[in-house]
Amino acid sequence: MRVASYTAYGGPETIVIREAAVPVPAAGEVLVRVHAAPVTAGDARLRSGRVPRGLGPMLRLAIGLTRPRVAPGWAFSGEVAALGPGVAGFTPGQRVFGLTGFKGGAHRDHLVIRADGRILPLPETLNHLTGAAFFFGGLTAAEFLIDRAKLAPGERLLVCGATGAVGGAAVQIGRHLGAEVSATASHVNHPLARDLGAEAVTDYRDAPPPGPFDVILDVMGRLGRAGAWPLLAPGGRYVQITASLAEFLGASLRPVREGRRIITGSNKDDLPSMRRLVALHRAGGYTPALGPVLPFERLAEAHAIAESFHKPGNLVVTMD
Ligand SMILES: NC(=O)c1ccc[n+]([C@@H]2O[C@H](COP(=O)([O-])OP(=O)(O)OC[C@H]3O[C@@H](n4cnc5c(N)ncnc54)[C@H](OP(=O)(O)O)[C@@H]3O)[C@@H](O)[C@H]2O)c1
Repeated sequence: MRVASYTAYGGPETIVIREAAVPVPAAGEVLVRVHAAPVTAGDARLRSGRVPRGLGPMLRLAIGLTRPRVAPGWAFSGEVAALGPGVAGFTPGQRVFGLTGFKGGAHRDHLVIRADGRILPLPETLNHLTGAAFFFGGLTAAEFLIDRAKLAPGERLLVCGATGAVGGAAVQIGRHLGAEVSATASHVNHPLARDLGAEAVTDYRDAPPPGPFDVILDVMGRLGRAGAWPLLAPGGRYVQITASLAEFLGASLRPVREGRRIITGSNKDDLPSMRRLVALHRAGGYTPALGPVLPFERLAEAHAIAESFHKPGNLVVTMD
């Protein structure tokens, strides 16, 4: 089987694909034949080591000082190829999707995962492409809008950067929660933002829409606290998805100013969060927007697209 790995921090050329033996699942494990996997902003950041200002040393302490000691690929969609001893609840041939998470390992033809880990049956309403695209962005948008900003029906939501993985999910989930959704996107993506459910769309290179908004979800952190505050209604929440270390610390030390709250940090990617997102999908509240689809051999090219931060929807590579 083919297995991707990173040889160093750097550009997409640091990705190599080599041959390896198909693993044998141990007790309690499932062998999955991977059909498709996303290539995300997170994959590009781990490979390049380029993270928001101040977070680089922490990243290198976590995953490797001289090269990323993680395997490429955060999520997968595929089918059960074999079961290790003692596994119940899955059957060979069953369609599944899930997360290999921060330590990775989904950019390969087969992977093993614990049966009680982050693996779920693929809903019949998803195929392997949308299954692969499902979790990245969706988990982030759901947690920040529902649990942290506590977006309520009738509130005014602005999603800045509304057509990528996180923003595309936030627009849909915001609408599903009953919010009035405005969006910013580059001009070419305005039709997509509207298709996803945004009622008003402007270009983020122009002046921001005047507001007021109850919740602003700023995907690339472009507004910053200074830009967001005048647009927020009293009691408003500014969710900065991409934040520097200084912005993160500032938000943690003094989250509330002048009756408005700033929210930063990272989202959970555990099984309950995954199940909640599947429930949202089944309720009609979220289906990932599929962007570019490339064959697995073009993984390096996929990384180059992902780190542009201008892809529409979610980017997926296919192993078939
Ligand atoms: N905090 C967390 O837990 C968490 C979780 C997931 C992701 N993230 C971070 O969230 C960010 C976005 O991830 P993603 O997967 O959604 O990326 P993506 O799919 O590449 O989407 C990026 C979005 O931002 C827009 N955009 C690009 N440059 C912009 C700018 N200068 N000003 C305003 N909007 C801009 C793009 O719009 P156009 O294409 O129309 O230009 C697009 O809608 C990344 O920095 C990622 O690391 C954080």
